[in-house]
Parts: sequence; C-alpha cells; structure tokens
Amino acid sequence: MPPSENNVINAATRLCAVFGSPVRHSASPAMQNAAFAALALNWRYVACEVDPKNLREAIAGAKAMNFAGINLTVPHKLLAVDMVDVLDASAKKWGAVNTILFSEQGATGFNTDADAIVTSLREDLKVELRGARVLLLGAGGAGRTAALKLAAENVAELFLVNRTPSKAEEIAGEIKRQFPGANVAVGYPREDMDLVLNATSLGLKPADPSPLDENLFSLKRARAVYDMIYRPAETALLAAAKQAGCRTANGLGMLLHQGAKAFEIWTGQAAPLDVMRRALVENIYGGPKS
Ligand SMILES: NC(=O)c1ccc[n+]([C@@H]2O[C@H](COP(=O)([O-])OP(=O)(O)OC[C@H]3O[C@@H](n4cnc5c(N)ncnc54)[C@H](OP(=O)(O)O)[C@@H]3O)[C@@H](O)[C@H]2O)c1
Repeated sequence: MPPSENNVINAATRLCAVFGSPVRHSASPAMQNAAFAALALNWRYVACEVDPKNLREAIAGAKAMNFAGINLTVPHKLLAVDMVDVLDASAKKWGAVNTILFSEQGATGFNTDADAIVTSLREDLKVELRGARVLLLGAGGAGRTAALKLAAENVAELFLVNRTPSKAEEIAGEIKRQFPGANVAVGYPREDMDLVLNATSLGLKPADPSPLDENLFSLKRARAVYDMIYRPAETALLAAAKQAGCRTANGLGMLLHQGAKAFEIWTGQAAPLDVMRRALVENIYGGPKS
C-alpha cells in the first residue's frame, strides 16, 4: 500500500514533545501518537530528556522551531511557570504548568493535571468530591495540585499526611489562604473516609511498602482508594485496599485525561479517548489490563 500523506513524516509534519528528566519511560508518546494517527493528523510526539538547567532554552527552542506544543513532566512543572509568555487561568490557579501551546501569543502555559484527577476519580471510582471526606498522602508537586483542587471542589474534610510534615503544613496554609472556608488538617483522621488518595512516589518500585500507616488509619474505614501511581498496576496500597473491601483505581485515568486535554488544546479537536486509553494500556502493561 503506498504511504498516505498522514503516515509519513514530511515537511508539513507538526511536532509536539514531552520534556522531562528522566523521561525514557514516558507513555505519553504512545498515547499522543495513537491519537494523531486515529484522527489522520500529520503530527508527531517525541520524548526529550531535558535537564532542568536547560529547560528555559529547550522551551525557547521548541517555540523557535514552530512546535505545536509540549508537555512537561518531573521535575519541570513548577519551574516552567516562570518560563512562558502567558499563563492560562488553570496554570495560575494551580501554580504549575504541564502543557504549553505555542501560538501567535507566544508560549501559553496550562495545567491539565488538576481537572484530570477529578475526572478520573469520578469515572474510575464513582467518587463525587463535593462533601466528601478525603485523606491525601503526599505533599510533592502532585500532592500540592491535588490538595488545592480537592479544596476547590468543596470536599467536606481534607486530611494531609506527608513523610515531611512541614510540607503538608505549608499546603494546608496555602489552602486556608485560597479557600478560607476549607476544613483542612494535617495528620491522620479519626473518622471514616470516603477517599484515600496516594500522591506519594512510594509504590513506584514493586517492593515498596504502602505509604499508609495502618496503625494510624485502617483501610477498613475507607470506602475508596486511588493511587496516582499506574506502574506497577497494583501497588501495596491498592492490594491492601482491595483486601479491605475498598473500591480501588490506579493513576492511569489521570494520565489519560491530562493528555487528552493537552491534545485538545494543541489540535482544537476532541481527543479520541478510547484510542488513547488502549495505547496507554498496551504501552504500560503490554496488553489489556486485567
Ligand atoms: N497518574 C498521573 O498522571 C500522575 C501525575 C503526576 C504524578 N503522578 C505520581 O504521583 C507521585 C508523586 O509525584 P510528584 O510529582 O508529586 O513527586 P514529588 O514532587 O517528588 O513528591 C514525592 C512525594 O512522595 C513522598 N515520598 C517519596 N518517597 C517517600 C518515602 N520513601 N516514604 C514516604 N513518602 C515518600 C514525598 O515526601 P517528602 O515530601 O517527605 O519527600 C512527596 O510527598 C509519583 O508516583 C508520580 O508517578 C502520577
């Protein structure tokens, strides 16, 4: 079959990329290239290892080379806030940039992570955040975005737990400044929780223990547990949660929805969610997830 215009790379090909360090395990190229192919777009998406000290030059270079857009992953999301020409309301609100659109306005920074958390919780766990009681583990970049978003969604109670408690205290202070009515505390709750959300990186290695101290909070008191980690598919936390009878989900849906929103920002077209999900599952788990 002769190559169609859309499956060859030529002078008209539009480029997107993810910048990160390390970035070689990123599943975003598989997800985004599958979406471009499904919509017959002559676009390509690559992963670039970018050291934080070169991030400003890398963004300027992508802009100068007429890239359509880029994603930013660890450790660039906070740094990039000061490296774009325009901050979209989403990036201003959550203080982090994971998506850049290059246009006549220059480089515009967006945050598509925060909404993706809520969409995935709703889709994968049927959790509605308004009025929910939530225990959030982790106060790094993802934990901070999640905590602020949960407060914005009007959760009834939010408990923040982190290995370094001062970071959780700092986020609690930020929430109280931004959302004066929010009910936020640092430490484990005494009451039952609608949701336990892991935003720590403990669990990324298959031998990692659970980040939850079950002496201080028993999973029998949680209705649903979400782990932002998606590789491995089942962390020690999720295994224990299943055992305790909780509804569980891993972070694949969050990865999917932040990428789908980025796709829509760049192309102006609706993201083919099923295609993107299948590409992620194939890339990360090597086949349909059981
Ligand atoms: N599904 C998705 O789309 C998605 C998107 C973003 C992030 N994530 C996942 O979310 C996790 C956090 O990402 P991030 O960007 O927030 O990373 P980060 O900024 O480096 O934060 C790491 C967090 O994990 C905690 N932590 C690390 N090692 C620990 C240990 N041994 N014991 C207890 N806590 C530990 C840290 O606690 P300290 O503050 O005490 O260091 C901090 O709260 C990662 O697993 C990442 O893969 C998933």
